[in-house]
Amino acid sequence: MSINLKGRSLISLKDYTPEEINYLIDLSISVKKEKHNNIRKERFKGMTIALLFEKRSTRTRCAFETAFGEEGGHTVFLSNSDIQLGAKESIEDTARILGRMFDCIQFRGFKTSNVEILAKYSGVPVYNGLTDDFHPTQALADIMTVREYFKTYKGIKIVYVGDGRNNVANSLMIACSKVGIDIRIASPKPLLPSENIVSLTRNFAEKSGSIVEITTDIKKAVKDADVIYTDVWASMGEEDKLADRIKLLKPYQVNKELMLLAGKEAIFMHCLPAVKGNEVTAEVIDGDKSEAWNQAENRKHSIKAIILATLGLV
Ligand code: CP
Ligand code: NVA
Repeated sequence: MSINLKGRSLISLKDYTPEEINYLIDLSISVKKEKHNNIRKERFKGMTIALLFEKRSTRTRCAFETAFGEEGGHTVFLSNSDIQLGAKESIEDTARILGRMFDCIQFRGFKTSNVEILAKYSGVPVYNGLTDDFHPTQALADIMTVREYFKTYKGIKIVYVGDGRNNVANSLMIACSKVGIDIRIASPKPLLPSENIVSLTRNFAEKSGSIVEITTDIKKAVKDADVIYTDVWASMGEEDKLADRIKLLKPYQVNKELMLLAGKEAIFMHCLPAVKGNEVTAEVIDGDKSEAWNQAENRKHSIKAIILATLGLV
């Protein structure tokens, strides 16, 4: 089957078929090889991307800047204090202007509806670089890392531990259930995933032959894990909730004892940035079972793949 993603935006991976996601992962692995073999191409020469950031970023910004820039493209970084996004000018009008000047747009911010409006009114591919609900480019890098490490998705179980209703957990559940990775979320009751996401991903899992499980029992949850995954306890915009979250999530910390319950072969993943001593101990994230650093590098390759595919350059 030939896959054509030209002109598509990426708001959430729920809009992509398993075949399209697999195609993007193959492409990500192939552009990573090119980079590691020092094969230089100029596929973005003469092109421009607008990078809109309402929230801070290290990896996502640097991944977009380096992936696009190293192939001859020009990147324009625009923070909230640079442009009129929703302040003196509507998102619709901003989208219309950017669409006439740029080949594609990345948006990181609070509301998912803003990325949807940008995609609708700009007429160019728009990439969701994280909103309160989703982090799809992260999930692409996550499953790419799983593919590289285990060479397959079949029979692999990711146990995500911690805040089970944040953007990273939502997108991980979507990506895993689409491609056939088993996903289990272990969180305290107030932080379990929404019913919407659970039923949506169970539908996807039924088609891909994988399993979506939800539990509050952390010790049982990690027992047959191939991957233990966690994220920060308070996401950007939730800083005022941190004290409560520490109380709620302390038993869900990923430490050596928890990794031992999972077994010697289990690897550790984290989207980063990490708060060492909260959701994960330094010993685990800096240890030899941590794939977090490779996972971070994979942001760049998978982001290059989605831009190449949606601009019709492959
Ligand atoms: N994982 C991730 O999105 O990192 P940044 O917030 O640094 O972009
Ligand atoms: N859940 C985190 C992810 C950061 C990449 C946040 O939204 O802050």
